[in-house]
Amino acid sequence: LYDQDLEGERYVISAGGTREPIDPVRFLGNRSTGRFGVALALAAAHRGADVDLVACNVDAALLPHHPRITIHAAGTALELRERMLGLAPCAQVLIMTAAVADFRPATTTDSKVKKGGSVPDFELVENPDILKGLAADRSHGAFVVGFAAETGDEGGSVLDYGRAKARAKGADLLVVNRVGETAGFGDVDTAITILDSAGETRSDAAGTKSQMAGVVIDTISSARKGV
Ligand code: C5P
Repeated sequence: LYDQDLEGERYVISAGGTREPIDPVRFLGNRSTGRFGVALALAAAHRGADVDLVACNVDAALLPHHPRITIHAAGTALELRERMLGLAPCAQVLIMTAAVADFRPATTTDSKVKKGGSVPDFELVENPDILKGLAADRSHGAFVVGFAAETGDEGGSVLDYGRAKARAKGADLLVVNRVGETAGFGDVDTAITILDSAGETRSDAAGTKSQMAGVVIDTISSARKGV
């Protein structure tokens, strides 16, 4: 049914969104569902790849069941980095679709922050940029792919921002999710532009997340073959 063109390859894919704890019941999070990462994991597995899916707070109902997909859980950005660094040396392709919190609370309290008295003042510290780290230190030897949700504004177009990010991140490919054209968090239809590390366009497509997952895998395969 599917071409087994990825047989013998290992893909490590992060999905979902990190949650940074404030106290035992609260966190700083985001609305990423993990759908794109799950679609990519399935697309790669259907084509014969072995997939490690590092799921960050993905709803259990969305998680795929496939003999070639191993699911690992990560909650916070630091846990996700740990997982990615651990899995990277065995991978041919690393894909970071997860929405990673840029900041985390400097401290987490053991008991719930109580109301009353003064308004709490949270200190934040910066999280590491996992994608940038994976792109900068190539000791793992894998091909590195990042994602970016961008909108245009008065300062520039979606592609202007995407190209700048592609160059800044240093990943081999950056998949720019053109939010607001047809796309957005949790939506079924997605518009993507895939840029290389020089900011040049490699693919441009729109459709369902599973169709777009196929385009991403095809573009990765072409780029790895040097075409
Ligand atoms: O900079 P921005 O968050 O838009 O970049 C998105 C890409 O960078 C995604 O691939 C995301 O997984 C990755 N990222 C990361 N670590 C961070 C922030 C983003 O790996 N701290």
